[in-house]
Amino acid sequence: AGTPYLKVTPSQLKTMTGRRGKDAWTALGGRVYNITPYVAFHPGGGPELLRCAGRDGTRLFGEIHPWVNYEGMLASCMIGMLVEEGEEKK
Ligand code: HEM
Repeated sequence: AGTPYLKVTPSQLKTMTGRRGKDAWTALGGRVYNITPYVAFHPGGGPELLRCAGRDGTRLFGEIHPWVNYEGMLASCMIGMLVEEGEEKK
């Protein structure tokens, strides 16, 4: 069996903003990442990185630095897949 990744819906993702003691999660290319450990290391700064927290950051990320290999960089931070509302129960 493969790794049991979490199925994360947009409404669950929305709670993971990196604020009020919550971890920061984002979705990129359909994968969900816990970017909390990376906040202090982002070359563009923590606040900029956190603009993609709690939501699908694919478009924003791609507008800024499409050349950055996030899949490689964040492989160990991947925690799940973004799914539609309701799909997490299946
Ligand atoms: C730079 C990674 C999200 C804004 C960089 C660089 C990396 C990186 C590796 C250096 C790129 C280079 O020098 O060619 C990431 C990862 C992200 C992410 C892994 C998501 C998980 C974001 C977001 C924003 C952002 C959401 C803004 C809304 C910037 C800016 C720089 C930068 C402005 C340029 C910093 C400079 O050169 O002074 N990021 N980034 N990044 N990033 Fe991100």
